[in-house]
Amino acid sequence: MTQVVQVAGTGFRPYEVRVGRGLLADAGGQLSDLVRGRTVIVADGNVVASHARTVAAALTAAGVAVSIIPVPPGEASKSWRGLETLCDALLAQGLDRKDVILALGGGVVGDLAGLAAALYMRGVDFVQLPTSLLAQVDSSVGGKTAIDTAAGKNMIGAFHQPRRVLADIDALATLPARQLRSGWAEVLKHGLIRDAAYFGWLAGEGAAGAQGDVAALEPAVVRSVEIKAAIVSEDEKEAGARALLNLGHTFGHALEAELGFDETVMTHGEAVALGCALAFRFSVAQGLCPADHAGAAERAFAGAGLPTRLDSYAPFDAGRLIARMAGDKKAEGGRLTLILARAIGDAFVQKDVDRDAVAAFLVSEGARPA
Ligand code: GLY
Repeated sequence: MTQVVQVAGTGFRPYEVRVGRGLLADAGGQLSDLVRGRTVIVADGNVVASHARTVAAALTAAGVAVSIIPVPPGEASKSWRGLETLCDALLAQGLDRKDVILALGGGVVGDLAGLAAALYMRGVDFVQLPTSLLAQVDSSVGGKTAIDTAAGKNMIGAFHQPRRVLADIDALATLPARQLRSGWAEVLKHGLIRDAAYFGWLAGEGAAGAQGDVAALEPAVVRSVEIKAAIVSEDEKEAGARALLNLGHTFGHALEAELGFDETVMTHGEAVALGCALAFRFSVAQGLCPADHAGAAERAFAGAGLPTRLDSYAPFDAGRLIARMAGDKKAEGGRLTLILARAIGDAFVQKDVDRDAVAAFLVSEGARPA
C-alpha cells in the first residue's frame, strides 16, 4: 500500500512524498494532476533502458507526450558544463513555464535537474523520481539542488522544492549491493539524530533492509522520509535544525575529499557511516554521550557492511582532515562546528569545538599526527 508523507513548511508549497511499490509503472496515475500534455524525463544514463522506459510508457498511455534527456552517470554531470548541456536540451524541447520536469535517478540527477528546473525560465515545477535508496531517503526530499565547482561540492545551487516525490521501493531491487548499503547509512543516520526506537528497529528486526529485504526497506524509507520531512518543515534553509542532517558529514566529507571523492575507495554513504561513528566516539571522548551508545551505533553500521574505523584505510593526516573540516586551509587555532550526540536519537549542533581536541581524537583513531 502506498504511504504518503507530507512535507509542509512556511516558505514553500506543501507536497507529498509517496512511498510504495509500482509507483513508476503507475506514473500516469500518480502524476495526472501535475503532468499534462507533455513532459521531459531527465534520466540518469543507467536507468534510461529500464525505469525511464517504464515511466515514459506509463505517461504515454495517459496521453502525455514524453521525451527523455539522458544524463551521463556520475558526479561529473553535476557541473557547469552538465547544467549548461541540460538547460540547452530543455530549451531545444521548447518547454514552457507550465511544463513539469521529471528527475529520474539518484542524487546526481535529482540535484542537477532540480537546479535546472529552478533556473529554466526563472523556475518551473519538477517532480523527483528517486531510484537509489540515498535519493529516496535524503536528496529527493527537502529542495536542495546544486552542482559542484572547483571550489567544492554543491557550491552553486538553489532551494527549489519538488511538487511531488515518488519513492518506488521496487526501483531498489536493481541497485548494486554496495549502493544499497551506502543508502542504509543515511537511514541509520536518521535514527541516530532523532528517533532511538526507530534506530533500535533498524539495528535489529529491520537490519535486513541493508541487504535489500523489501519488507524492511519500505517502512525504513517511510520513517526516514518522515524524519527528514519534519526537520525540513522546521527549517527549510538550514538556519538551525536542518544542520542535524549533517551528522557524520563534517568528518565524512573531509575523508572523501582526502580520497579525491573516489567512490571506488569510499562511497558517500560509507563516508557518512564512518563519520557518524567518529562523531559518536568523539561525543564520548568529550564526556557528552555514554560509551555504549557509540558502541551500538558502530555495531549497526558494521553489521550493514559499512566502515566504522579510520584505521581500516591508509593513514589519514590529522592536520589535513582538520583543515578540510574547517573548510579553511590557512586559519589556525580556530574552532569547528560539529553535529554531536548526547545519546542515540539525540543529536545536537555543537559550535566552537576545539580543533586541537578533534586533532588529538583523530590521532587516537589512527590518523597521523599533524
Ligand atoms: N542532505 C542534507 C539536507 O538535505 O539538508
